[in-house]
Amino acid sequence: MTNRPAGWYYYAMKDIKTILSERSVGSAVTAKGWARTKRDTKNATFVELYDGSCFTGLQCVFDAAASTEGTLAALSRTTTGAALAVTGTLVDSPAAGQPVELKATSLEVIGECPADSYPLQKKAHSLEFLREIAHLRPRTNTIGAAARMRDEMAYAVHTFFHDRGFRYVHTPVITASDCEGAGEMFQATTLDLDAIAKRGEAVDYSKDFFGKKAFLSVSGQLNVETYCMALGKVYTFGPTFRAENSNTTRHLAEFWMIEPELAFAELPDDMELAEEFVKHLLTWALERCGEDMAFFEKRVQPGIIEMLDSVRTKKFAHMSYTDAIAELEKRKEPFEFKPFWGCDLQTEHERYLSETVIGGPLIVTDYPKELKAFYMRLNDDGKTVRAMDVLVPRIGEIIGGSEREYRYDVLVENMKTKGLDPAAYWWYLDLRRFGSAPHAGFGLGFERLLRYVTGIENIRDVIPFPRAVKQADF
Ligand code: 4AD
Repeated sequence: MTNRPAGWYYYAMKDIKTILSERSVGSAVTAKGWARTKRDTKNATFVELYDGSCFTGLQCVFDAAASTEGTLAALSRTTTGAALAVTGTLVDSPAAGQPVELKATSLEVIGECPADSYPLQKKAHSLEFLREIAHLRPRTNTIGAAARMRDEMAYAVHTFFHDRGFRYVHTPVITASDCEGAGEMFQATTLDLDAIAKRGEAVDYSKDFFGKKAFLSVSGQLNVETYCMALGKVYTFGPTFRAENSNTTRHLAEFWMIEPELAFAELPDDMELAEEFVKHLLTWALERCGEDMAFFEKRVQPGIIEMLDSVRTKKFAHMSYTDAIAELEKRKEPFEFKPFWGCDLQTEHERYLSETVIGGPLIVTDYPKELKAFYMRLNDDGKTVRAMDVLVPRIGEIIGGSEREYRYDVLVENMKTKGLDPAAYWWYLDLRRFGSAPHAGFGLGFERLLRYVTGIENIRDVIPFPRAVKQADF
């Protein structure tokens, strides 16, 4: 390590967010970041320096007459995207919209950014184009704001659960069990399947890394249930993987899910928790992310702040699946998929119910057992299960959850009906043999939440590196 003067380290420096909020006019400041824009006038050059700590950049003003030759030379090498260190004095800003600016005395170009080849020009770029340069897009206003929101919402998730005594459990990414039983799993193998096929041999999974077929997990639920039956209130929050062939603005092949699980709880407790959770997240976004929310309101979805604010104070509506179908049939809307009892609710149905019928969030419960996973508690009617989906306007389903089937015999029967081998789930069934108790939980799709909160339409724009059908670059 070379000898570095105190305060040299980047993390010890004040970031632009701190500089702008402290507003200590008269203080000497060095700020590092990237040039967002550069504008020359007769007497001065204005460089907006952006370091990602907040939406707003720091306006750096270089007086042409007072600048040294070295600074003028550095300014001539400064283009949009260049990495810079700017030193100067913080002064009151005469310009509207910014309380302070930096009266710059020196400039160091740390990394040039050739304008002729840099893909991000000053003009607005489409989100489609930005997806093709996912390594550079976090430098744009929209993706930068989405990244900060993502971080804030993750923090809000952990705060919510920790404040309520829930323990964070890390569930595995690699698994041998299909939680949802839908067969939409990515296989994880170290076998050379091509070579085996060429030899015309059958695949022997006992020779595979795990000695059996293994997959990437579609949900941490089954594992988190085991900790629920020991620690009481738990949650998991991690990446999950689904090989669904859904090329939509709502589906990812790799997405993050938050899954709480509550012991000695039934469906009404689950619904209560889900509602409180969503409201906590919206409150966090509105109260702690004002600057980025103002951007989403202005540039992405006008009216979003008022909409989210109104949801915070409204009680979520409840409706059984049977009533929801009756409501849809009664309305005679020209749906693409005609609704009938027993059909899976399509996004158009979910949106219609929350947007038109209710005008806000809605929890639909008690779905036909055929539509839902094996682990959901069977109702006494023998036809429906204690499932709940939280539907919100514009998005449709944001949460899926249920009370769990905690009766051993009924669970085994459910598995068999769904074509699952109970022996493969022996450890899950053990939870029903040793100290079984009612419990319930749900899964919130983190990216669906981010779409809801930011107003960003395509789910691929709220995750840094989207993984979807035919998309695994970067
Ligand atoms: O309804 P799902 O499939 O429920 C489960 O996985 C349960 N094991 C959760 C639980 O009870 N612990 O998925 C839960 C949520 C959905 O409501 C949706 O928000 C999100 O996960 N989701 C997806 N998000 C993005 N891309 C996909 N392909 C998604 N599939 C589900």
